[in-house]
Amino acid sequence: MQEQTLLQSKIEQGDFTRGGEVSSSLKDVLRKLGIKSETSRRVTIVTYELEMNIIIHSLGGEIEVLISSEQIKVVATDRGPGIPDVEKAFQPGFSTADDFVRGMGFGAGMGLNNIKHYSDQLTVETGQGKKSKFTAIICL
Ligand SMILES: Nc1ncnc2c1ncn2[C@@H]1O[C@H](COP(=O)(O)OP(=O)(O)OP(=O)(O)O)[C@@H](O)[C@H]1O
Ligand SMILES: [Mg+2]
Repeated sequence: MQEQTLLQSKIEQGDFTRGGEVSSSLKDVLRKLGIKSETSRRVTIVTYELEMNIIIHSLGGEIEVLISSEQIKVVATDRGPGIPDVEKAFQPGFSTADDFVRGMGFGAGMGLNNIKHYSDQLTVETGQGKKSKFTAIICL
């Protein structure tokens, strides 16, 4: 099967009311396609964490999810401000979330760890003052 787009969605900075929308509609799409629940769970967790990170930490961006016969690919891109120290950002418990965000239950500093854990392959392109692009692959 050639790679096909399953879903493409813009995500606004600070749009908590729509937080989780992309991953929950993706879950429906995957169920209709008959993707096994364990795989679907991994893909939706990865998508949810990327989606919330765009809402919380970026200036806005988008998520695209693609499928081929071998894999599901989640691509999250944003308009900046980028991550100055990626290694540090991946450390469990590291978070720059403010009190407002923490008050809503985010900011444990576990999102990137989860993304890495549930992906078979993960690439990150970012840097201080740059756009960020995360590409996560989950094998079928
Ligand atoms: N898209 C992004 N743009 C800029 N910075 C980001 C982005 N995604 C993550 N970060 C940075 O990496 C840090 C760690 O991200 P991670 O998702 O692990 O934790 P968190 O979002 O702070 O908390 P949690 O995901 O547990 O609610 C963030 O606090 C933020 O500083
Ligand atoms: Mg996060």
